[in-house]
Amino acid sequence: MRFSNSLSLKNKTKSVFSLAIALNLMTANAVAQDIPIHDSDDIFHPVIAKSGMVATQEDLATQAGLEVLKEGGNAVDAAVTVGFTLAVTLPHAGNLGGGGFMLIHNSQENKTIAIDYREKAPISATRDMFLDENGEVESQKSRFSHLAVGVPGTVAGLILALEKYGTISLARALQPAIALAENGFPVDEDLRTSLMFAKKQMQASPASRAIFYKQNGSLYEVGDLLVQKDLAKSLRLIAREGKDAFYRGEIGDRIVSEMKANNGLITQEDLAKYQPVIRQPIRGTYRGYQIYSMPPPSSGGVHLIQMLNILEKFPMRSLGHNTAKSIHLMVETMKLAYCDRFKYMGDTDFVKVPIERLISKGYGDELRQKIDPNQATPSEQILPGIINQTPEEKPDTTHYSVVDKSGNAVSNTYTLNFSYGTGITVPGTGILLNNQMDDFTAKPGVANAFRLVGGEANAIAPEKRMLSSMTPTIITKDGKPFLVTGSPGGSRIITIVLQIIINVIDRGMNIAEATNAVRVHHQWFPDELQVEKDLNEDTIQLLKTKGHNVVIGRAAGSSQSIMSVDGIFYGASDPRKSGALTVGY
Ligand code: GLY
Repeated sequence: MRFSNSLSLKNKTKSVFSLAIALNLMTANAVAQDIPIHDSDDIFHPVIAKSGMVATQEDLATQAGLEVLKEGGNAVDAAVTVGFTLAVTLPHAGNLGGGGFMLIHNSQENKTIAIDYREKAPISATRDMFLDENGEVESQKSRFSHLAVGVPGTVAGLILALEKYGTISLARALQPAIALAENGFPVDEDLRTSLMFAKKQMQASPASRAIFYKQNGSLYEVGDLLVQKDLAKSLRLIAREGKDAFYRGEIGDRIVSEMKANNGLITQEDLAKYQPVIRQPIRGTYRGYQIYSMPPPSSGGVHLIQMLNILEKFPMRSLGHNTAKSIHLMVETMKLAYCDRFKYMGDTDFVKVPIERLISKGYGDELRQKIDPNQATPSEQILPGIINQTPEEKPDTTHYSVVDKSGNAVSNTYTLNFSYGTGITVPGTGILLNNQMDDFTAKPGVANAFRLVGGEANAIAPEKRMLSSMTPTIITKDGKPFLVTGSPGGSRIITIVLQIIINVIDRGMNIAEATNAVRVHHQWFPDELQVEKDLNEDTIQLLKTKGHNVVIGRAAGSSQSIMSVDGIFYGASDPRKSGALTVGY
């Protein structure tokens, strides 16, 4: 059985402590240090454990990661195992044919590093490759054609993490993924629904159709086994030959043949040249906590810290949770940050991004002056003249967090971009291909699938990485991981992570409450304050009075977070998507 909310998850806790004893101990310690804790009066309760914890969006992957921790593997071992397992059990977002970002806190070196395994534009990609003869964007090409595929980074990224920071063999890390692909696993409601929505795009790819739907084209029902023999074969090849199987060997050959047959751009040279990069995380502070998050090509870390700098001098605690006053200040802050995203952000290997200034406390002070505490500033006054369009958004990224008993932590977000990416499976491999090229700016000022308007800094160029919003984050206190968090959600990822941090640090919520709390979002354009439907009507009316264009939208994100307080782990999987599971031991 799968669990769909944190209350259920609590019952699944594999704690070595009795819950009651653990709660009493932790309450005493936490109050002494004024750190957010949870007590028996709280409505939502986190999962609690002492030796290690795994939080992912899919229960089989969580269990696979936990097994590795229990065998004595470290957080990186478990995270790499989870990454490969999700490629099998959460095929709409977990992947081998996409890319992502991993933040690792290494306790022995007391160091936090970032692995960038984002996809790259192929060598023959061109700036205007998605424009028609009239200069208009052809979104079908940037989303569903073979041209939409960036050179995948996941296999290289996960293997780099394991080689540099892990202790187990690649074969061990791949073992659960191979078994689940080979023998199959029961389809759950989340998988069935995602396949129903993706059917049109998946039917266009014969290999996708053959793997993910029954022979007559109908959907697998909940409880049916999904068997992925070709994917099992690819995973076995990777176990035997390492990343060369993907970037130089049989899998790579099949990817290139698929590209050649369908006017795609990825060549043998693109695959052979692909390298993940170890980067310094973006660093900031918030009320005495150290924030580590993802640098470009993600915009996530920069804007997270920029927003925290602005908010730090507002009395967020006394303004109260999700009051009109506090939402107003957060939203005005979001607009300023997303405006800078448009202006400045791109791959720093190609364009100069004024990171130091964007994340400086001084710049935060300057921006804070621009915020009217009573009235919303219309987005076009922040920067006028933006062309906008509102295509349908279909994000599907996934995040997971892992901690171990030695104080190591991993925060990983990776993606195919849309649910199932392009929907194209490379024949004979079982590997779905991303459509990450849509995250580039096809034309300055024209929105992408997340309704994000991009600028020149994110224009397409050969071998450039497309801008992302993924925000895997690790917060430390006194040098030790305090909060490991992240979420899917496309353009909303950065503001989801922001609100989890504010909820924990300013509002003293436990991690389950911080996760469950109603979320709001503004991304400068479109000039909409998106709120989840449980925000109360009085607050909505007050926000309208302040000039906000409030739009009630759908649930945002699927955060997977772990807090560590005095050596005890508290975890929570987001109830917004079913199938997620946090467990510890
Ligand atoms: N593809 C979504 C992101 O990287 O932000």
